[in-house]
Amino acid sequence: MKKILVIGSLNMDLVAHVPHLPHPGETISSIKFQQSPGGKGANQAVAAAKLGGNVAMIGRVGADDHGQMLLNNLRQAGVDVTGIRQEGTTGMAFINVSKDGENHIILVPGANHKVSRADIDDSIHLIQACDFIIMQLEIPLDVVDYVLTIASEHQKEVILNPAPGQPLSTKMLGMVHTLIPNETELQQLTGMPVTTIDEIVAAALVLKTSGVARIIVTMGEKGSLLLNEELQVHIPAVKVIPVDTTAAGDAYIAAFAVGLTKGLSDSESAEFATLVSAIVVTREGAQLSLPTLEEVK
Ligand code: RIB
Repeated sequence: MKKILVIGSLNMDLVAHVPHLPHPGETISSIKFQQSPGGKGANQAVAAAKLGGNVAMIGRVGADDHGQMLLNNLRQAGVDVTGIRQEGTTGMAFINVSKDGENHIILVPGANHKVSRADIDDSIHLIQACDFIIMQLEIPLDVVDYVLTIASEHQKEVILNPAPGQPLSTKMLGMVHTLIPNETELQQLTGMPVTTIDEIVAAALVLKTSGVARIIVTMGEKGSLLLNEELQVHIPAVKVIPVDTTAAGDAYIAAFAVGLTKGLSDSESAEFATLVSAIVVTREGAQLSLPTLEEVK
């Protein structure tokens, strides 16, 4: 089976369920508190493994209880964790989830910001052995840039989730095969308006001129938009009542990659990813909400 390598972040999520997201200066009480495994990288690795993918991960957790819990969760899902270093303090994410499922996230990067070029060199065999590399932007940008260069030397396809959103150089974008931003990240990447589907298509087409072969814009309840060399297609979302949207984007990206490793077409993979993320928004938590392939079926 084709192999997926995730290079990215691992966080312990500290989640407060609140009646509404607080306004500046407002103090509110939570309805419920949960601590559970998260981090965009780890979420994507666990999601892909639970969907039947062959997955390894490179990253860092702290030498602490949070780190151990995150590693255990990855192992339990079947992820190869030999590329994850344990040192310092595990990253954390403070998350507020409102009654309608929307969230605010504040990151405390911890060990994620210590991921280095040397970590990548130490696990170069994982890059050599994989077919797809998935990355996000919760580790240093310099390391993401380094991996992009190595990946293009080894002719490995990189799927980049540019989250948290920030501008990227044309050189970096030129080494990305598949870019999967949400609307906000697309706006941050291009500086263009993204309020209508036409504006989103226009912004995505600008990114394609940098050499990105495939762009998928995830748009929440509006579904997703896939643009590749041959087609431009809008995949509507599955209608569900959202409970918590945390990790819905992560699950979409992982499911899309698993679809590709199983030989599905771009649109079939995007449809599969749409189903998976619909399940995720009906459940609480990041990794807690990720379904197995059996549950999706
Ligand atoms: O995408 C959701 C994730 O973003 C959370 O699990 C949190 O840890 C942050 O990385």
